[in-house]
Amino acid sequence: MKVAYLNGRWVPVEEARIRADDQGFLYGLGVFETVRVAGGRPVFLDRHLERLRNSVPVLGIDPPWTLAEVAAAVREVPSRNGVGDGAIRVTVTAGPAAGGTGAGSWEEGSGPALLVTIRCGRPYPERLYEQGVAAVTASGRRNHLSALCRVKSLNHAESILARREAAARGVLEALFLNVAGELAEGSATNLFVAAGGRLLTPAVACGILPGIARAVVLDLARGRLGLDVEEGRYPPALFERAEEAFLTNALMGVMPLVAVDGRPVGDGRPGPVTLALRRAYEALVAGEGLAADRKSIMEASMADHGVLSMVDDGGVDELDVVS
Ligand SMILES: Cc1ncc(COP(=O)(O)O)c(C=O)c1O
Repeated sequence: MKVAYLNGRWVPVEEARIRADDQGFLYGLGVFETVRVAGGRPVFLDRHLERLRNSVPVLGIDPPWTLAEVAAAVREVPSRNGVGDGAIRVTVTAGPAAGGTGAGSWEEGSGPALLVTIRCGRPYPERLYEQGVAAVTASGRRNHLSALCRVKSLNHAESILARREAAARGVLEALFLNVAGELAEGSATNLFVAAGGRLLTPAVACGILPGIARAVVLDLARGRLGLDVEEGRYPPALFERAEEAFLTNALMGVMPLVAVDGRPVGDGRPGPVTLALRRAYEALVAGEGLAADRKSIMEASMADHGVLSMVDDGGVDELDVVS
């Protein structure tokens, strides 16, 4: 039986219920994180927790739990459910509104909900990485002036509609322009383009979610690969001079993007920059397991010596693990 962590307790998934007056359900007032699990361990957990911490105040949510509690539940959910490779979802909702829609006015004893669940398996088959995927331009636009772009909010309908648009046209992803007509992001991915010997990606100001995989790729590209990287504002015509492009998210990692709106990107095949970054990224993912091992040995020995009463994340630089 699958179990979920809900508001401090492990419960069977089918009993993990959020109240009908929760503002997350009623108004989309909440945020979530999707965390990859590899080898039974959450990957890039520090970064996800950091984004979660920065996101909740944007929606006026003042959580009663600590990040250490979230981290502990996230680390525990794979073994509790026997999952080696999969995806953890951390969902935070604003909780019930007392007598109206105002966030922050909760009934006594209720408040923001914290739910941690897990799914098994890898969503993207290897064949997609070998061949690359195609995208279309979404008919909707990202409003880069909206604070919601920058948080992974429960308001996901626009992205889901775009994803359906892509599926209807037989491709994996739909790319959003922002209302200024600049390249922004995919429905559930960030976008990178290699052009003129540089690696380009739309800046956060273009109305994108600052993705975890995007941040890792930027670090790898600037650091280990020593690439010339720019975060900027780009027109859709960038694809005409692109040598390569790829998409990122926490579950897919680095996915070659080989066609947009029916036209090939570069020579229409995964390119060397993409492949090098994918290799480096996956090495880092594998290394996270090693880091977790190293950390848990350290934690065990510190706990033995009474140094550590609460498991906290941090202190391990992912780049150290593979360099
Ligand atoms: C709109 C949007 N942009 C970008 C991303 C990529 O973010 P991450 O790398 O944190 O998965 C996602 C992930 O779901 C997303 O929904």
